Amino acid sequence: MSETLTIALSKGRIFKETLPLLAHAGIVPKDDPETSRKLILDTSQDDVKLVIIRASDVPTYVEYGAADIGVAGKDVLMEHGGEGLYEPVDLDIARCRLMTAGPVGMKEPVGRLKVATKFVNSTRRYYAEQGRQVEIIKLYGSMELAPLVGLADLIVDLVDTGNTLKANGLEPLEHIADVSSRLVVNKAAMKMKHARVKAFIAQIAEAVKQRQG
Ligand code: ATP
Ligand code: PRP
Repeated sequence: MSETLTIALSKGRIFKETLPLLAHAGIVPKDDPETSRKLILDTSQDDVKLVIIRASDVPTYVEYGAADIGVAGKDVLMEHGGEGLYEPVDLDIARCRLMTAGPVGMKEPVGRLKVATKFVNSTRRYYAEQGRQVEIIKLYGSMELAPLVGLADLIVDLVDTGNTLKANGLEPLEHIADVSSRLVVNKAAMKMKHARVKAFIAQIAEAVKQRQG
């Protein structure tokens, strides 16, 4: 009997960069989430489905077993906490850094630092480890705007080329974590669908290795 595998992916960068890895495992989606409105995609393998969800929802779907497997950025996993998940493969895609950033040449403000971010848990943990007291302001996007309009002194955000910061008169300051996307697996699926899941992990790990040369 064949066991269905449900894989959770977000559209955009993660979907695009995961496609070649899935192809190596013989899995090709039948629709493109950029053009289709479907949230469940069939693939070239009858027993493999892709569910297309928000990047930050991937750990939740996998933790609850609504998806057996997912691809999520380390930034998202650090925020989520990673309960109920195995993280067997660093896919080495969607690489960037989680950093603090502020206006170019900014002086340390007097009093408690105000930090705007969507990464509230990682930010709290980072400053707590350093014994620094900060006020964290939760945002859902466009963090770069916050220091420009006086909402916050600093931001914590993802940085790749640094172009987004630069375009807004900001500069990267402190490095919090290196980020890349990870394969995550539901713990129960790892037990119940062991052979299927193990084989899939091995194929993806091999694809990553080949890509890295
Ligand atoms: P959500 O829809 O849940 O708010 P999002 O809009 O951040 O998430 P994406 O922009 O597709 O989703 O980012 C997905 C993942 O890609 C992030 O979690 C991060 O790990 C990585 N990432 C984000 N920005 C970059 C970047 N500029 N360069 C490389 N990787 C990035
Ligand atoms: C991400 C991130 C930064 C930007 C950093 O945004 O939130 O704003 O990339 O990349 P850079 O250092 O190369 O400029 P993204 O492009 O994914 O848009 P989003 O904010 O809509 O997720």
